[in-house]
Amino acid sequence: MKKKILIIDDEEMIRLSLAEGLKDMGYSVDAASDGKEALEKARVFAPDMALLDMKLGDENGLDILPKLKDLDSDIEVVIMTAYGDIESAVKAIKLGAYDYINKPFNLLEIDVIIKRVVSKQEQKNRLFTLEKSKGQQSYESNLIGEDPLMLEVLEKINILSKNDDVTVLIRGETGTGKDLVASAIHNHSIRKNRNMLKVNCASTPEQLMESEFFGFEKNAFTGANTGKKGLMEVADGGTVFLDEIGEMPMNLQSKLLTFIEDKNFRRVGGLANIEVDVRIIAATNKELEKAIKNKEFREDLYYRLNVIPLHLPPLRERGQDIILLANHFLEKYSKKYNKNINLFTDEAIDKLLNYQWPGNVRELKNVLERAVLLGSKEKITAKDLPLIHEVARDKNNKVEKDISLYPNFSLEKEVENMERKYIKLALEESENNYTKAAEILGLSRYALKRRLEKYF
Ligand SMILES: Nc1ncnc2c1ncn2[C@@H]1O[C@H](COP(=O)(O)OP(=O)(O)OP(=O)(O)O)[C@@H](O)[C@H]1O
Ligand SMILES: [Mg+2]
Repeated sequence: MKKKILIIDDEEMIRLSLAEGLKDMGYSVDAASDGKEALEKARVFAPDMALLDMKLGDENGLDILPKLKDLDSDIEVVIMTAYGDIESAVKAIKLGAYDYINKPFNLLEIDVIIKRVVSKQEQKNRLFTLEKSKGQQSYESNLIGEDPLMLEVLEKINILSKNDDVTVLIRGETGTGKDLVASAIHNHSIRKNRNMLKVNCASTPEQLMESEFFGFEKNAFTGANTGKKGLMEVADGGTVFLDEIGEMPMNLQSKLLTFIEDKNFRRVGGLANIEVDVRIIAATNKELEKAIKNKEFREDLYYRLNVIPLHLPPLRERGQDIILLANHFLEKYSKKYNKNINLFTDEAIDKLLNYQWPGNVRELKNVLERAVLLGSKEKITAKDLPLIHEVARDKNNKVEKDISLYPNFSLEKEVENMERKYIKLALEESENNYTKAAEILGLSRYALKRRLEKYF
């Protein structure tokens, strides 16, 4: 992805020669001759950096600098000053310029500064990415699977990595590996050295979502003291992963559709169309067809996203992959916790193969981490594998058998205890992700929230 540089100078010769030189060096360049044009161009061109002349006819570069920063605080401005005008240079730095360069200068001098700006911005974007994925699991690079259903998935990942413009919709139950597959597609595509930014549509507040996606201009709303780039701009050249897209509000769905079709968008409060090159990967475990019927999801967006359907099969349908994955996690956690556990008993294997795995690979992983952590022998036995739905069965039988023995039996209390217990288990299972916990429990998020308020 080329870095974008805006040249702001009133001398045509300088604009032309600088633009030509910078283009030859591989940068994308636009130019403006005065403050007004500079701001217009900055809006549309969305530069990473501006080279701003200190003297533009009657105008002073120092007056234009804050306006550029207001438009987008991420634009790094380098001031071009007359030789010896240290005073203005210092003022410019105080006003937020990145650096200054004395005129006349040669292209190599300016290239050194540009490279410093680029490395600073990349550093910042990396932090942004880390910030975004904080609290989420770090990506594991290896996708394990040999079942024919998984081989088909791997083949599609391969195709999608090579076609880096195709929008992808990944579907599958919770814990089937949608995140992992999204990273695999990005990491094997030519976009791999650019950002992959992830947003969870279920946990981003609805009123912030648009500005989070598309950025905003100064004064777009109260408190917007400067303009800001949104995810789509920061991810330019890379990938944006929209997780739980089924939860995206309708009005943003139409904006997203327009963005995917036109490859450009407007910041909140902005008038200019900004162009970027971003691949969208979306994921959901929701039945979008049902959501479409209920008018909660746009049909046109669905078709636009679902060009090549990528469905991750539930773990229970992956046959021997269960054992393959179980062995993988066994080895991983044995190493992590310094244990010497490397086998399953036959009973344990039966139990793994016969279980429904509602939480899929994530559940298997968690069950094995627990088993290894608590296990003391060389083999994992069936007893070492407490499975959430098994607990449900045992408990039901027990209540039926023992009910006459309870002198103060209260159905309401029993149900409450049970609810509390399963909510706890589901929260553990989902690592405190309410959306997932609600799904495991078969509740709406709202219903889960009400119960959390009641019991905890
Ligand atoms: N095929 C696989 N091989 C190895 N690890 C896997 C595989 N599939 C999933 N995992 C692991 O299982 C866990 C859950 O996967 P992931 O977060 O990608 O699921 P998901 O489908 O995004 O779930 P959710 O719908 O809850 O967001 C992760 O730790 C992931 O690394
Ligand atoms: Mg996920």
